[in-house]
Amino acid sequence: MDVLTTPAAMQDWSRAHRAEGRRVGVVPTMGALHHGHVALVDAVRRCADVTVVTIFVNPLQFNLDADFDSYPRPIDDDLDRCRDAGVDAVYAPTAAAMYPPGFQTHVEPGDLAERLEGPMRPGHFRGVVTVVAKLLAATRADVAAFGRKDFQQLAIIRRMVSDLDLDVEILGVPIVREHDGLAMSSRNARLTTPDRAAAVVVSQALGRAERSFRAGERDAGALRSTAVDHLSAEPRASVEYVEVVDADTLDPVTRVATPAHIAAAAWFGDVRLIDNVLLDEQ
Ligand code: PAF
Repeated sequence: MDVLTTPAAMQDWSRAHRAEGRRVGVVPTMGALHHGHVALVDAVRRCADVTVVTIFVNPLQFNLDADFDSYPRPIDDDLDRCRDAGVDAVYAPTAAAMYPPGFQTHVEPGDLAERLEGPMRPGHFRGVVTVVAKLLAATRADVAAFGRKDFQQLAIIRRMVSDLDLDVEILGVPIVREHDGLAMSSRNARLTTPDRAAAVVVSQALGRAERSFRAGERDAGALRSTAVDHLSAEPRASVEYVEVVDADTLDPVTRVATPAHIAAAAWFGDVRLIDNVLLDEQ
């Protein structure tokens, strides 16, 4: 497995593979890799000839310095996990290589970035799409995979790829969950033991709303209340939002008539968790 640390080295690597007719698949990550990331690698490997994992904790997308500073960076474990997963190259640039002095160009997302996570995390999605555009350019990706836990991020990236005519296929990969239902996230490692035990209420709350939907409930307010009531009953959870939004526009809906997501964000101590479930007739 090759490890590359500069955009030029990464581009050379991909150029050589593409010249041989190989399709380059990419999994952008911020490291602290878990089974959810391995599912992304597996998805990419099914439709690419060579697979690259990018590992970069992107300062542009953090709202709080403390969150950026405390983000886990277990690079040796990450490299081992990539090797075990059959990854061909890891692209792990430094912040100086990504944002050298004089850097000043950003990608500006549109309305999709104003919903859900947007008001809570000003500038977050601008940082995400800027770095993803750079990572796609450096890796010369033919296909790239993103997790559906961050379904808003996925929608914004798909929009950017379409709006900027980027020649890359975007895969959305289903959420991978812990044995008790907690959505896998690099942030889970920072939960205290009691908060980890309590955090299961997020997926439980959304699961209750989903069961109610399956039983015929279509009123978004009622579905939302089902989830909020369950979450609010957990004293360790501080609920930031629970919303039911259209799956395409991410606009809030009053009735679920077309596919929608019910999405939640909640704090457990200083760890913020998000999760969502697709409400679809299929
Ligand atoms: O989802 C993530 O891990 C990050 O937002 C991403 C897409 C790697 C950009 O830094």
